[in-house]
Amino acid sequence: MHRRSFLSWGAAGMAALWSAIGVSLAAVVRFLTPSVFYEPPQSFTIGNPGDFPLGPPTFLPEEKIFVFRDKEKGFAVTSAICTHLGCTVQYFSSDRRFHCPCHGSVFASDGAVQSGPAPRPLEWLEVTLARDGQLRVDKDHVVSASYRLMA
Ligand code: FES
Repeated sequence: MHRRSFLSWGAAGMAALWSAIGVSLAAVVRFLTPSVFYEPPQSFTIGNPGDFPLGPPTFLPEEKIFVFRDKEKGFAVTSAICTHLGCTVQYFSSDRRFHCPCHGSVFASDGAVQSGPAPRPLEWLEVTLARDGQLRVDKDHVVSASYRLMA
């Protein structure tokens, strides 16, 4: 083997070695970096009680919730996430029911499934009064459909 040929094979080998080390180090760094999902907070304020009208529920698209306000019964909050595959349901005042646009599930105004394929009722979420007087919703606390906050 000639000296020039030996040097070029040596340089190619070193390049391959450093390339392999670089790829391995990148894999180790990726393995050691935690895979974290940054979710929006599950407990949040949505405004003052007076911000919500009586009558049909108010839809908050960012939070994907409906806020019900009833003069005698108080406040109730339901998730707008369909229990089938997670589409956002819509409320129709004409029949006072929730309809899922994806696969046609229909929920009564209390969240009960009236027609599938949704397997479970809509979730009702805890709503409380925060210190500053705003309504606070906690998506981690599912409550019964009869839960109400008088405010
Ligand atoms: S996601 Fe609502 S019916 Fe399928």
